[in-house]
Amino acid sequence: MALAGVSSACDNRGRDQLDVDFDIPRSEDFPALLSAYGLFEGPMGHLVPSATAVEYELASPLFTDYSHKQRLLKLPEGTTMEVFDSFTARFPEGTVVAKTFYYPFDFADESRGREIIETRLLVRRQGDWNVATYIWNEAQTDAALALDGARTHVDWRTASGAERSTHYEIPSEVACVTCHQRDEAVTLIGLTPRNMNTVVVRDGVEIDQLEYLQSRAVLSGLGLEGLTSLPAYTNHSNELAIRARSYLDANCAHCHSPRAWKRAAREDLDLRYETALPDTGIVDEPRALRAALTSGDMPYVGTTLIDDEGVSLVVDYLDTVASRGRGRAW
Ligand code: HEC
Ligand code: HEC
Repeated sequence: MALAGVSSACDNRGRDQLDVDFDIPRSEDFPALLSAYGLFEGPMGHLVPSATAVEYELASPLFTDYSHKQRLLKLPEGTTMEVFDSFTARFPEGTVVAKTFYYPFDFADESRGREIIETRLLVRRQGDWNVATYIWNEAQTDAALALDGARTHVDWRTASGAERSTHYEIPSEVACVTCHQRDEAVTLIGLTPRNMNTVVVRDGVEIDQLEYLQSRAVLSGLGLEGLTSLPAYTNHSNELAIRARSYLDANCAHCHSPRAWKRAAREDLDLRYETALPDTGIVDEPRALRAALTSGDMPYVGTTLIDDEGVSLVVDYLDTVASRGRGRAW
């Protein structure tokens, strides 16, 4: 299968030193082609979810070089995602979670077409999550398994009409696991009740996403009333501190929290939204955080471009933290 403009394996900014301290699970025998999973119906490139896959959205997503993403959850027939609390849910054997990355040619007018780059999967087998990504072919009719990572050139026009491009990085399986690990096991990151606890539009109607998923028998478990939510960092009606903390959670906390990848986890840097400000490291090290963000040094893997909006959001917030001094809770 021809892969458009995809060059050989490499890691972010020459960071080929990525490591993993545990065996990456191999309990899923990944098929060569993505079509084997039956995630889509009709022409695959239309990305129409099949009857057994449900689309979900996150209040605060990960930034990946401005790519657009479609997120799908495919549960084995008759099973549910069982919610325990705001952070935890149980997924049955055979669950497939898929995230497809694409670039509209023109962000102002998506009807002008798009290029689908990759579909990342997490598949539940024998109690483990298995990671893999599939790179889409030029004809956009299917995608091929790729565990070693790759680079591919993408161009797009921004909503304000600027031409942009990058050498987009498709992560290797080791790169996947630097982010997707907790206590030395592969883990989901975004698919938590608190990040899914947001309003979405379905069939033209605004609806609470968790209620919607419950009504479609995708979700089961606790009542949904007591669940917390991760506020959307793009929602300007939330105050600055809340938006910035949510951004840091969604884009950094998978590496900067106590049970994360050992090379990243530090006791003095815990960027989870729920961590009390004095315990995050933000008040002690606003300059280090600012430098890490504005230099593009962080996030350590997963991007080639700086997220201009996200970085300026956090920098504005860090300014207020620095001027308020140490030890104040927000
Ligand atoms: C830079 C860190 C990072 C890397 C590298 C990364 N991911 Fe993720 N991934 C995330 C975050 C954060 C989320 C949740 C937020 C979102 O979906 O935007 C996520 C979400 C996902 C999801 C949806 C389920 C979930 O956990 O929320 C899948 C599937 C997935 N990633 C697979 C992969 C695979 C496979 C790779 C490697 C090819 C990979 N990811 C590489 C950070 C990363
Ligand atoms: C894939 C994991 C990963 C992600 C995601 C990540 N980091 Fe890091 N971070 C690291 C590692 C590893 C180090 C250790 C420094 C090194 O080895 O270069 C580090 C170090 C740091 C440091 C300390 C730098 C210093 O000078 O001591 C700061 C601050 C930081 N990261 C902020 C962030 C911020 C902010 C984000 C989100 C935008 C982020 N990181 C996302 C892995 C990550």
